[in-house]
Amino acid sequence: MSLKDSQEAVSDHLNHNSHMATVAAFGQQHTSVSMYSATTVVRAPESVVRGRWSPAVHGFLGEELLLNHRRSGRDLGMQLGVSRFYGHDAVLSTAHSDLAERVDGAIALPPRRRLRSGLTDTVGTRRSGRGFSGKPVSLEELATVLWHAQGVSGSLPVPTAQDDDAAVALRNAPSGGGLYPVRLTVLAQHVKGLAAGAYAYQPHGHTLLPYPPTSRPVDWSRQLGTADVEVDKAALALVYVYDLYGNSQKYGDSGLVFALIEVGGISQNVHLARTSLGLIGCDQGGYDKQALERTLGCDGTSRHVVHLTLLGHGEA
Ligand SMILES: Cc1cc2nc3c(=O)[nH]c(=O)nc-3n(C[C@H](O)[C@H](O)[C@H](O)COP(=O)(O)O)c2cc1C
Repeated sequence: MSLKDSQEAVSDHLNHNSHMATVAAFGQQHTSVSMYSATTVVRAPESVVRGRWSPAVHGFLGEELLLNHRRSGRDLGMQLGVSRFYGHDAVLSTAHSDLAERVDGAIALPPRRRLRSGLTDTVGTRRSGRGFSGKPVSLEELATVLWHAQGVSGSLPVPTAQDDDAAVALRNAPSGGGLYPVRLTVLAQHVKGLAAGAYAYQPHGHTLLPYPPTSRPVDWSRQLGTADVEVDKAALALVYVYDLYGNSQKYGDSGLVFALIEVGGISQNVHLARTSLGLIGCDQGGYDKQALERTLGCDGTSRHVVHLTLLGHGEA
C-alpha cells in the first residue's frame, strides 16, 4: 500500500467514524511537549506529562518509584531483608501477631454469614453503587464484610526450637510473607447497635476496637466527600491504613508495592461480599488523605491512609 493509499484509507475511516478523530487528538495531546510546564503553578497530571522531557520538570512520584524499584531475586539487599525474616525471632513475631490486638474494650462481632451466591454471578454483578439511602446496615452484615475482607481462615505451621506449635494465622486476602501490613478501620455512621465513630477491625479476635474517645470526629462531607456521592447516607466507610514498616522491614521498597496490591485484594473481597449481601459500595479516590490521617491519629510517616471504600444500602 502506498503512502497516498494509506492516507486516503485513514481519512476515509475518520469520515465514517468521526469520533475516532477526537480519540486520536486526545492521544496525541499527551505526546506534545510544553516548555511552560515548569512554570505552571498547579501541577495537573497532564502538565507533568507535557513537561516530561524538560530537565526542569520533575516527573510523577510514581515514576520515581518505578524507576528505582528493583525487583529481582538476585538483588542482594532484598535477599538479605527476606532471609532475615527466616530467623526464629521474626518467625515467632509473625506467628504471635495476635498479641498486637487489644482485648479490653474490644467489641465482639457476630459470626460472619455464609454467603451462598455463586462466584460467577457475584463477580459479574459487582458494580460500584453511589446512590446510598441512609438505611442502616446490621452488625452481622458489617461482620460478614469484614470477615471476607480480612478474616482469619487458616494457619501455617512454622515450628521453631522455642515454640513447636508456632503457626501464622492466615487471612482471606493474600499478603506478602503473611505480614498483613494493612489494617482496616471502620468509620461507622449508620450501623445498628454500633455508636457512630471509628473502630479498628481485629481479625484474630474478629472484634472491633473503638478509637479513643478523645480522637476527633470524622467530618464526613469534608474529609470523604466527592461530588458524585452523598456520603452522609453511606452506612460506613472502610479505611485501609498501611503500616510502612509492617512489611518494608522485609521487602524494602517493594513493601509499598506489595501493600497496594494487597489493598486491591482486600477491597475486592469487600465488594464481592457486599454484592452478595445486597449492599452497594464505591471506592473513593477523592478523600482528603492528610485530614483523615490527622483524625485517625496516623502519623502520615509510617502509617498512611491508602484507600477508602463506602458501603451501605442503596435507594430502593
Ligand atoms: C482506586 C479507585 C478509586 C475510585 N474512586 C472513585 C471516586 O472517587 N468516585 C467514584 O464515584 N468512583 C470511584 N471509583 C469507582 C470507579 O469509578 C468504578 O470502579 C469504575 O467506573 C468501574 O465501574 P464498576 O466498579 O461499576 O464496574 C474508584 C475505583 C477505584 C478502584
